[in-house]
Amino acid sequence: MTGRIPQHFIDELLQRADIVEIVGSRVPLRKAGREYKACCPFHGEKTPSFTVSPTKGFYHCFGCGAHGTALGFLMEYDRVEFVAAVEELAARLGLEVPREGGGQPQSPLAPLYDVLASATNFFEQALRAHPAAIEYLRGRGLDGETARVFRIGYAPPAWDALLGEFPEAQDERARLATAGLIVARDGGGYYDRFRDRIMFPIRDSRGRVIGFGGRVLGAGEPKYLNSPETPVFHKGQELYGLYEARQAERRLTRLLVVEGYMDVVSLAQHGIRDAVATLGTATTPDQVRRLFRVVPEIVFCFDGDRAGRSAAWRALQACLPEVREGRQVRFLFLPDGEDPDSLVRREGAAAFAERAAGSLPLSDYLLDELRRQAGPDSLDARARLAELARPLLALLPPGVYRELLTDRLAEAVGLRRERLTAALGGEPVNAPPPIPERRPRSAGQRPSLVRQAITLLVHRPDLGRDVPVPSGLGNVRSKGTALLVELLQLTRDVPGLTPGALVERFRDRPEGPHLAEILTGQLLVSEAAAARELADSLQRIVAQGRDERLAELVAKAATDGLTTAEKEEFRQLQRAGIADSG
Ligand code: UTP
Ligand code: MN
Repeated sequence: MTGRIPQHFIDELLQRADIVEIVGSRVPLRKAGREYKACCPFHGEKTPSFTVSPTKGFYHCFGCGAHGTALGFLMEYDRVEFVAAVEELAARLGLEVPREGGGQPQSPLAPLYDVLASATNFFEQALRAHPAAIEYLRGRGLDGETARVFRIGYAPPAWDALLGEFPEAQDERARLATAGLIVARDGGGYYDRFRDRIMFPIRDSRGRVIGFGGRVLGAGEPKYLNSPETPVFHKGQELYGLYEARQAERRLTRLLVVEGYMDVVSLAQHGIRDAVATLGTATTPDQVRRLFRVVPEIVFCFDGDRAGRSAAWRALQACLPEVREGRQVRFLFLPDGEDPDSLVRREGAAAFAERAAGSLPLSDYLLDELRRQAGPDSLDARARLAELARPLLALLPPGVYRELLTDRLAEAVGLRRERLTAALGGEPVNAPPPIPERRPRSAGQRPSLVRQAITLLVHRPDLGRDVPVPSGLGNVRSKGTALLVELLQLTRDVPGLTPGALVERFRDRPEGPHLAEILTGQLLVSEAAAARELADSLQRIVAQGRDERLAELVAKAATDGLTTAEKEEFRQLQRAGIADSG
């Protein structure tokens, strides 16, 4: 079990995170004055109403009303939970997420990570002691530096080389077996799963080894032996080389997806450090989502042969639910009999990069493939094309991208989009999501004093530190005063709180949406006048509260009469009022 993430860490994270960079890594932003603009990634639109404010640490779409902090953006855009968004943001800033309650019991997975880490060390050392293994890697063009970066190792040709490295205790054996490193014998006892193989450690996003791929040195079956699924290793979710790519390049702009371990390593050896590989399985939507969390562009590299084509088609389908404005997927088909490793070795990095740059956009590939599946052009083929496209278009999220693709398809089929959409089955493909109604404040209605003060504090938390808080504010009963008092306390206690971080603190509170909405607006007071205005509002709130309470007591005196305590309160209120106006 892990403890709560301390609030101060989340404040600090939002203070340090550059929301423009975070949003900009997923949505192309254009500078517009003090803010940044883009077409909203959360609803389909053609003119940008999505705004990111670096000073507020907040984004807001005037079209659909979406808004939030860098954390909120990651949650919405990447569709992840709060904790995952915190972890992502922390990882970007190179921070470890602290947990409250020091004496927390350790995660039950920790011992698995431990044995996997020990095994990685062991295989690395073993590589140095086995010239034949080094020779094999040299023969494939790898140097020591690349081997070091990927922590490539070697499993010696024995049944108990790794076993011998660990204590014989049964619980230790059980751990190694659960981690997929050893296998139980029928007659009792264990043996090493990986023997006489080059070992490629597979790391998770934090760099922890979670599994291995092991290649035979020469010919032999199976060519690659992989770790089985374990509590820490899920093939369909991981990508070989992603950790290394992120380490090599802080600001990745695209990732190349290749099929093999050796392709990743060999491309890196040639200076192409942004390649990752699926682990011998078809590309999954989970993997696509992970990639898009890191970069806006994915280039898939597949063999040009039949197997490669069918793998590409499956990858395309895994991508469709995730494509939208600002994201790109491309497909690079390699010449027959080549893989990225062989090609980069033969042609060099520049030629390979050129091929990648000239790869097919998803839409082109989709249409080419559909045309091929529909057969030679004829009326029937066009109908078939529309039919084949229907389930694929349905996978796309609504938005500009879907509209564009529908347009292109309509063109290919020779129909206007409206006709095609109707032919595809009623519901218009480009129906924009409903825009939530926004209540405009009616002209005559002035914001209440309390709302005005809250607005000032939300936009300028720094003011809370020095503003004089009139005594008696805590006794005012008008709506929102409790929240105002809390905000004054908060901004005083936590200096440096950004507007976004302040709003983020109320994520799970009923007041949260209200505060967020306030931050989406503009502060109508000048920077300079804001402090004065806040002090003023507080004074007036107290005075107004006093007047209201006095009126209440007067009314009660006339009907039910006042208790002794109320009489005393009345006198005090009157005195305070006179002192104030004097
Ligand atoms: P390939 O057979 O294309 O291997 O398998 P490769 O990457 O070109 O390997 P080299 O160049 O001969 O060393 C591609 C990927 O499919 C998985 C592995 O993940 C491999 O990297 N695979 C392949 C297996 O898991 N098991 C196998 O037996 C073969
Ligand atoms: Mn190969």
